[in-house]
Amino acid sequence: MTIEMATEQTVDDEEEINGVRVVMVMNRKGGCGKSTLVKGLASAAADLGETVTIIDTDNNKGCLEWMLNAKEQGNWSNSISVIHSLDAEEIKEIISQIHAQPDQEHLILIDTKGGGDVGLDELAGKAHLIIVPTFLSRSDVLDTMQTIAWHERLKKRVANPEKIPPVRVLIGRNPTARSEAEEVAFQEIMTNMKVIPYPVNNRMSYVRMDLDGPLGPLRDRSINPGAAQHISKCLKEMVRTLRAINKITRSKGSQ
Ligand SMILES: Nc1ncnc2c1ncn2[C@@H]1O[C@H](COP(=O)(O)OP(=O)(O)OP(=O)(O)O)[C@@H](O)[C@H]1O
Ligand SMILES: [Mg+2]
Repeated sequence: MTIEMATEQTVDDEEEINGVRVVMVMNRKGGCGKSTLVKGLASAAADLGETVTIIDTDNNKGCLEWMLNAKEQGNWSNSISVIHSLDAEEIKEIISQIHAQPDQEHLILIDTKGGGDVGLDELAGKAHLIIVPTFLSRSDVLDTMQTIAWHERLKKRVANPEKIPPVRVLIGRNPTARSEAEEVAFQEIMTNMKVIPYPVNNRMSYVRMDLDGPLGPLRDRSINPGAAQHISKCLKEMVRTLRAINKITRSKGSQ
């Protein structure tokens, strides 16, 4: 049996109130699209008028540098803040402070570094959802399996397993035509893992976003209509992913 991704979504949740959501993006694998996803989701939420806080827990300060560079180029969106911290206690405090603010649509994204980290066990308990991005390679799939096994072990280890959020795998850099090996990886993921049912496609505009700043300002400042159209496609894709995330964080007992 061949399993395929959903291709289009009719979600009529524009009026939904999602409140504060904490999404932790992690995978033991390095270079599997974690930071790109964080930047894309931040772009989408900001474009929808939400407030976004990115908590960068990678010691390379990738997201923090991204903000500083985009600000310098005049490409930043003021709805997005990036805070760098390697201290789980400090991060928990930041999250509590955001929760304590009056009613709001606020997306908190925790970007992590590949290879796993001791603080992640603690932070997981503060998230509503854990997303595990993966590219379609054998090594990505193996590390993704390890990351899911970590989640299973964590649930067994803690006193209140119900406080550990659900986990979803998200395919990134999905090519327009999959090679045989990519197809094997794709089927493995779709058959055996819980997924966000929309892939993030392989697009040059994500690479530009990584270099230059959030997608909304890039679209608005683009003088080339063709480039603006490509960036809009990425934004649409990320809004769809964000809505799929919101659907999971809204539903109770989605473990
Ligand atoms: N959907 C995509 N389309 C095109 N390129 C992508 C996409 N997703 C990620 N990339 C590229 O893949 C590379 C790795 O992505 P990224 O830096 O997001 O991974 P990471 O998991 O955060 O890495 P690290 O573990 O080093 O933090 C980057 O060059 C990025 O531009
Ligand atoms: Mg990264």
